[in-house]
Amino acid sequence: MIGLHLDAVPPRDEALRPQYHFTAPSGWLNDPNGLVYLQGEWHLFYQWRPEPSDGPDKHWGHAVSRDLLHWTDLPVALSPDENGSVWSGSAVVDRDNALGLRRGRTPVLAAFYTAAGGITPESAGKPFTQFLAVSTDRGRTWSRHPANPVLPNVVGQNRDPKVVFHEPSKAWIMSLWLDGNTYGLFRSEDLLRWTELQRLEMPGCWECPDFFEMPVRGEPGERRWVFTAANGWYLVGTFDGRRFQPEFGPVAQDAGPNHYAVQTFSGVPPRDGRTIQIAWMAGGQYPGMPFTQQMGIPSELTLRRDRASGGWRLHRNPVREVKRLRGEPVRIPARSLKPDGQPIELRGELLDLELEATVPPGAALELNLRGATLRLDGTERTATLGGRSAPLAGGPTTRLRVLLDRTSVEAFVDDGYSTLSACFVPKAEDRTELRAAGQGVRLRRLTAWPLRSVWRR
Ligand code: FRU
Repeated sequence: MIGLHLDAVPPRDEALRPQYHFTAPSGWLNDPNGLVYLQGEWHLFYQWRPEPSDGPDKHWGHAVSRDLLHWTDLPVALSPDENGSVWSGSAVVDRDNALGLRRGRTPVLAAFYTAAGGITPESAGKPFTQFLAVSTDRGRTWSRHPANPVLPNVVGQNRDPKVVFHEPSKAWIMSLWLDGNTYGLFRSEDLLRWTELQRLEMPGCWECPDFFEMPVRGEPGERRWVFTAANGWYLVGTFDGRRFQPEFGPVAQDAGPNHYAVQTFSGVPPRDGRTIQIAWMAGGQYPGMPFTQQMGIPSELTLRRDRASGGWRLHRNPVREVKRLRGEPVRIPARSLKPDGQPIELRGELLDLELEATVPPGAALELNLRGATLRLDGTERTATLGGRSAPLAGGPTTRLRVLLDRTSVEAFVDDGYSTLSACFVPKAEDRTELRAAGQGVRLRRLTAWPLRSVWRR
């Protein structure tokens, strides 16, 4: 097994190294995989290869955290073998010991991944199948189950199994990307034998499905099932353990240029109860760095009725733990911003901003974030970042939260109604400032917190 040479990892402080977004110590990273909580630890596995460039030979890198922000690297969990490369998938806690492998008080972790056959020389001639790996020691070591593949090839390069427990029918449900815009749902009672339930079409979507139940915000007792695709687009509907009946969607989610392969955590204890999602900030540039790519900030999803569409809206906001990284805030009192006035300048490369502003038609509020431009447009009623736009929630006043890291910006508009994620390469002279374009922009409040690096202990 290839190790990460953890002892040799330099402090993660290179010029383009994100300081509170997760990155691999070195090499290439893409999708978050196997997100699962067990006994006080959040596990983050991720698509990884040793070179800082993409390629077919994927491993599952691994890190654990107690707060979703400070991560400890663990050795690579799974490496390619003769059945294929270790492509994306998920992990669950085998809560009722369905596999019968439990020793002592620690439940077994079951990880499902795609054995991507035929794309490495050692797996020549093998198809894409779904594999199960298990760990009896809190994710520290993994072995492949003898019953593999647990799901033979269905079609083409079918992949990215995401498994969830359906409580009322006491069964495990696997969502899988099949081909084109088609996904499948499968069911199992023992985590080993899977039968197909249905197929789903999701125009505009492919890869990395996720399927989970959520409470409806503000409506006690109301729950819906949400089906997401790699790009974060989602369907909302009902599920009885056999059939998912979409009521609404697909709806686009994060509108920014760097947001992909979203996945939620399984095993979150009921006393926490959050739906926590991580995305890969796909496509960022990190010239000259020993690593490439970063994860989006772990974020909390809430499902709400949406008056504008008469349907549903998945709101996304950073997990509350991010506030623990905040230092002493700078507060800018309410004021009107004139287009010819002095911009408001903020200092620091790691910032958490919260503002509320009224931007009338004909005007815009522009934030220059060390070279990345975020714009609230009062005519279009949109937020734009990295050349992509998302709608404001409505109402004359917009609330905005911005997380600025060394090489990324994430914008959460109107309490996560719309979000935009973008990576950028800052230049030394770039500053952070706010200015108005057009008349009548009213800044109602602005607070900026410097954030602490998670790598400096
Ligand atoms: C999505 C994806 C998955 C696949 C993995 C390979 O980014 O293409 O469909 O399993 O990446 O790294």
